[in-house]
Amino acid sequence: MVLLKGHGPAGFVFYTNEESAKGAQLAANPRAALLFHWKSLRRQVRIEGSVERVAAADADAYFASRSRDSQLGAWASDQSRPLDSRATFERRFKEVQQRFEGADVPRPPHWGGYRVLPERIEFWSDRPHRLHERRLFERQDGGWCEGLLYP
Ligand SMILES: Cc1cc2nc3c(=O)[nH]c(=O)nc-3n(C[C@H](O)[C@H](O)[C@H](O)COP(=O)(O)O)c2cc1C
Repeated sequence: MVLLKGHGPAGFVFYTNEESAKGAQLAANPRAALLFHWKSLRRQVRIEGSVERVAAADADAYFASRSRDSQLGAWASDQSRPLDSRATFERRFKEVQQRFEGADVPRPPHWGGYRVLPERIEFWSDRPHRLHERRLFERQDGGWCEGLLYP
């Protein structure tokens, strides 16, 4: 699960540690599917497409908007790699606090954003007796074509 931090005609943006498990997976295969599920509304939206890196200036701007402790955490965390004890992480966090004391925290080089460029967007809505509706939009010749899928 990641936070969706931007959306628009250019695509859907999230931020993470590029050396995390998902970062390594995206480096090997820069494609992703995003799933948004609203249980109470009985709806979901699935978006599939290729993935590109967000421009450094945009990642800098978003990183600067985060709380200072989140910024420090991005430096202290080797996201997705084994951690021997919580105390190690807390010690690393304190070291980073001291390192940047009295200064702005810069964006770590391994932390950035990814943009999913949608090729397929499927709107799923629940219907009684599992007779659900699935409406699919697919990129075609610079536009979108629309169709239905069996549930
Ligand atoms: C509500 C919620 C929001 C999250 N948002 C992010 C996020 O924006 N970026 C991120 O890297 N991890 C986020 N996480 C943590 C990820 O789900 C995940 O644990 C982490 O990115 C490591 O995943 P990986 O080992 O598959 O790379 C969030 C978790 C939750 C529960």
